[in-house]
Parts: sequence; C-alpha cells; structure tokens
Amino acid sequence: MEELIEKSTSVLLNNWKQGFTIPTQRLYPFQWNWDSGFTALGQMHFNVDFAIQEMQNLFSGQWENGMLPHIIFHSENEDTYFPNYDFWNAQVNSGAPVKPKTSGITQPPVHGFVLEALVNKFPSNQKVLSFAKDLFPKILKLHQWFYTYRDPQREGLTIIYHPWESGRDNSPLWDNSLARIIIDKDTLPKYTRKDTSISEASERPTSDEYDKYVYLLELGKKYKYEERAIFDESPFLIQDTLMNAILIRSNKALIQLGTRLGFDVAEIEEWQQASIPKFNEKLWYDALDTYVVYDLRGQTQIKHKEIGGLCALFAEIPDLEKANKLNDYLQGLHARDFFLCPSFDPEDALFDSKRYWRGPIWPQMNWIVYHGLKAYGFEATANIVKNNFFELVNKLGLHEYFESQKSLVKNLEKGYGGSDFSWTAACILDLIHEQS
Ligand code: DGY
Repeated sequence: MEELIEKSTSVLLNNWKQGFTIPTQRLYPFQWNWDSGFTALGQMHFNVDFAIQEMQNLFSGQWENGMLPHIIFHSENEDTYFPNYDFWNAQVNSGAPVKPKTSGITQPPVHGFVLEALVNKFPSNQKVLSFAKDLFPKILKLHQWFYTYRDPQREGLTIIYHPWESGRDNSPLWDNSLARIIIDKDTLPKYTRKDTSISEASERPTSDEYDKYVYLLELGKKYKYEERAIFDESPFLIQDTLMNAILIRSNKALIQLGTRLGFDVAEIEEWQQASIPKFNEKLWYDALDTYVVYDLRGQTQIKHKEIGGLCALFAEIPDLEKANKLNDYLQGLHARDFFLCPSFDPEDALFDSKRYWRGPIWPQMNWIVYHGLKAYGFEATANIVKNNFFELVNKLGLHEYFESQKSLVKNLEKGYGGSDFSWTAACILDLIHEQS
C-alpha cells in the first residue's frame, strides 16, 4: 500500500500545472471538468491547498449562465489535442469567459459531492470552510443552469446533446441516435484527430464517431451554444442515467452542506422531489432489471445494460427491490470471471472489451459504484469492486481504463488508453485513505 500511495501521489504531482491538473500528458493536456473533481478527492489526502486550487481554477471557466464547460484551456499553446479552444470558439456565446478559454458543452456535475467530501475531512479547517462558502453558490448556479436550460419539459430529468457530455463518449448506447446523423463531408469542417497518434487507435472511438462528435459540436457553435435552438434541431437528445444520478447525488450533498453552512436549500429539495420519482418512473426497464437512458428525440428507452444504470445506487434512487437486482447483476458478472465493473454488459452483442466506453473498466466508475453499493449495505460486492480495481492497478499500472475479462488480463502487461492517469491515482488514494 505504501508503494501505491507513493506512485499515485507522484502521478498527481507530475500532472499538476501550477493550479490545476491535467488528466494525463499529451492525450489530455488541459483541465477536464469531472476529471478535476475526482482529482481533488485524491489531492485532499496530501495537499488540501491543491484540492482547493483545482476546484477554484475549474470554476474560473464557468459561464455567466452557470454552465461549467467540460474543458478549460488554461494554456493556449498546447497542440496535442483536438478539438482545441479555437475549434470550439466558445466566444460566440457572450457569457463565455474571454480567459480562460473553454469548450461549449458540460460534463457530469460531481462538484457537490466532492466539496462535501472535502468539508467532511476538514470540518473545522477555516480555510476549507471559507472556500466551501465561496464555492457553494457557484455549484448551486451550475445546478440551476441544469434545471433551467437542460430540462425544457420541467420533468426533473436533464438532457445532453453531445455524447462527450455523458462522460461515456462512444458507449454503444449512442449508436442508434448517432445513426440519425448523415455526414456530408463537403460541409463538415476539415479536422485532424490527435488522439489516435498518441493512444492505440483500437482503444479509442472510431473515425465515424469522431465525425459525429464534430457535427454536434458545430451544431452547438451554429446556435451560439444556446440550448433552445440546439434542442429544436439536434438528432441527439438524451436523458442520461449517469448524468442525472450524479446531479441528484450532488443535490443531496448540497442540501447537507448548505444546511451546515447557512444557505437556503429549499429549491434543491424541490428538485429532488421531482427528479428521484421521475428517474424511477422513466428510466427503469423491467425486462433488463436495470435503469436505461431515454432517447428524447426518438421518444424511447435505449435498452442496454451498462454502467450508467448502476450509478443510480450512488444517488440512492432505487428502492431495496431494484437495488438488489443491480447488486445481483454485479455478483453474476463476478461469478462468471469478470473483473468489476465493465462499462458495458459483456453479454451484449455490442460489448467490446478494449474500446474506450464500449466495455472496459473505468476507475472513477468503480469509485462511484463502490460508494453506491455501500450506501445500501452491499458490503461484499462493494469490496469486490474496490479490490478488483486495486488488483488491476497493481498488475497493469495507473492507466485510464482496463480489461475486464480475467482470462485476458492474465496475459496483459498494461492497462488501456493513457498512462499515469490522474483520476486513477486519485481514486486509489481516496479508497486507501477511506480504508485506513
Ligand atoms: C476526448 O477527447 O476523448 C474526451 O473524452 C472528450 O473531450
């Protein structure tokens, strides 16, 4: 454990750029939104000032309407990533900051529960408390943006219009919705991917998928990143399980924190009263015994078992009967010799054990599912989720994502995607400290 603490700390120190942390060298050379939230969970165990600065610098990219972009381009000189700040051209929206430059879409709002963890660890540290008082209204503004602009039907379930917002870029979940996009090579701007010259192409999204990501980015830009017009036109409009579960979990954290710090939380309680029942009603799918995402454009559930459905546990959305079904599913995978938790169901024909979000295990997802299982008292499964993660990291390094089939892991020497990855290191540190 000592060695793992040392290695993880040094990854976070090496990826630290005087105020914020990059996810990994070259592949992701800027500040990413939900990555930074998890990074702060690790930093707080060795340098609470880093955790504070990480979050402050992230929120320096917040737009006037409250939106928190998925990338903050603190540096304008890096050339190893596409799409860079100039391609996003967020300035078409008058509420985007001039500096730092940002992207034009968001990511799962982890900041509420990250701030809660920080305050729980340092309950009487004045610096932490005054930082929490400063950050709370900014996180609240982000949640207000979600419920104002991303929930047009006032259902309590928010919408994404780009797969990158879900965090699970190329999950098979999006295949049918993306198939509605017909690419006209003459009108799509010319671009060159950088990711596949840095990372294995077979572990990354395909070029067809990238064309569609660029198409949806262009759609946002065309409408100055204003939701109403985007929603009228976008072929991709999804009510996502992961996104909404993380929002609901962070709402819960804000209620707890706000009460402690003297903020009014009535509005947040109202969101919870609408969101939790709607999540159960609209996203549960009996035949698969799991929560699934809803395609708002096609007016239909997207019926696949995958990691997003399991996030509901973390927000304590399911009743005991549903929670048991989710737990049984994980126990079944464990019994069939899979490491937990694959990002997509291995029994599904669309499962691909190597390709990004089409199957591999993701560190931050194990952190989320672990805490979700614990919230229901599923200690045995929670420990498998945690120990499998430790086993993979010990054998394959602090990588971005991992193979889930035990028979294949035996013959591998490293994990998939980027190496020396910040959220992998941070989740390891947080889990080690929780256990001690
Ligand atoms: C990427 O570049 O693959 C990210 O996931 C989206 O920003």
